[in-house]
Amino acid sequence: MKPTNSPKTYRVKSFGCQMNVYDGERMAEMLGERGIVPAPEGEDADLVVLNTCHIREKAAEKVYSDIGRLTKGKTQDKAPMIAVAGCVAQAEGEEIMARAPAVSMVVGPQAYHRLPEMLDRAVQGERATDTDMPAIAKFAALPERKRTNPASFLTVQEGCDKFCTYCVVPYTRGAEISRPYGDLVTEARKLVDAGAKEITLLGQNVSAWSGENDKGQAVGLAGLIRDLAKVDGLARIRYTTSHPADMDDDLIAAHGEIDKLMPFLHLPVQAGSDRVLKAMNRSHTAESYLRLLERFRAARPDLALSGDFIVGFPGETDAEFEETLALVDAVGYAQAFSFKYSPRPGTPAASMEGQVAKEVMDDRLQRLQAALNRDQWAFNRATEGRTCEVLVERKGKHPGQWLGKTPWLQSAWFEGDVGIGDLVQVELVEAGPNSLAGRLRERVAA
Ligand code: 5AD
Ligand code: SF4
Repeated sequence: MKPTNSPKTYRVKSFGCQMNVYDGERMAEMLGERGIVPAPEGEDADLVVLNTCHIREKAAEKVYSDIGRLTKGKTQDKAPMIAVAGCVAQAEGEEIMARAPAVSMVVGPQAYHRLPEMLDRAVQGERATDTDMPAIAKFAALPERKRTNPASFLTVQEGCDKFCTYCVVPYTRGAEISRPYGDLVTEARKLVDAGAKEITLLGQNVSAWSGENDKGQAVGLAGLIRDLAKVDGLARIRYTTSHPADMDDDLIAAHGEIDKLMPFLHLPVQAGSDRVLKAMNRSHTAESYLRLLERFRAARPDLALSGDFIVGFPGETDAEFEETLALVDAVGYAQAFSFKYSPRPGTPAASMEGQVAKEVMDDRLQRLQAALNRDQWAFNRATEGRTCEVLVERKGKHPGQWLGKTPWLQSAWFEGDVGIGDLVQVELVEAGPNSLAGRLRERVAA
């Protein structure tokens, strides 16, 4: 590649999970430190970062078609500089470099702190790949948090040692690591100084976080949450995503004791059949999952529950799928995510016998989603008439309208004289399937 001008504008496109959103924000911050500014809406950027997700179907194909779209009909000096980041970069970096000459940087999720150096090389016309996994070093090398949204993310843990047989994460994000306690308390304070009112602690297996507090004592996620709740100006704490195997008594108790910990739990179950769960290597049964939820609900009766589901795991029979529907009925989720099984290269399930036909998966997904939508709407209706605190996150579609989140992570919209980042009391007037219409009651101290 020829040397080229330093990019002046950038665009980061993040796909997939919230951790990618966090990583995307951090990459944007680094580019900002370099004096590169976000490309104005609707205009081409000089540098495009495709921050990819590999968890399901056709991830790599999507990357190639995005690259095609960005470079179509453009000579090299007119086309943007392209960096591919995220889990597809980690899993398929070399192929991307070989197949897509327009890409000048490939950077894995544990190495993106080196993006600025790679950029220097790219400007000199060198193509660079970095898919090392130094993990903690990345966070130390990132710039300080200076700007954020009222509801912001903080990655506390990365990687996964669970090896569910369908999942690519242990290969793309690597082994479980916990960021040190002190770094997290510092970053949380910086986020609050920058305007955050709510922080969601992120990790592929966030409930496996462990560390040592400032007194040298070993603490788990609940200990971290207890201490973060003491940060002045921080009003709300959430965490995601958890695994049933790591949920301990302390975390359950924390839900009953810490007001700032929002009444919401995202706890994926994946399936309702014990045989399927075993084949998935999930280490819990449907029954043990339900018992665990009972304990959470005893600690916090108004807890809203969320989950993840996969339909059509290899060998799943109709009767086994019915067990998933039965579990959904038993739980009554406030919201949930559901997916068709997608064979991921290199995972054990991809070579299992009994791959389920697409039409069967389509049908199961439709039935499952109908049940989940029914329950979500029912949950929303059950909160009608309540007045609750809403964190204002953005303007709504119509002038004077605002959108925010209730403690149960429902979207609520209302009109009134408020601003982004305000915590306000809103009466939930009318429930829809995906959001609630509210009426502003009063502002509460921010
Ligand atoms: N196919 C379909 N869904 C998957 N997930 C993870 N791997 C796969 C796969 N191979 C889903 C799981 C997980 C969520 C983040 O994505 O439900 O909890
Ligand atoms: Fe993937 Fe299972 Fe780890 Fe979640 S717990 S990231 S589904 S391997």
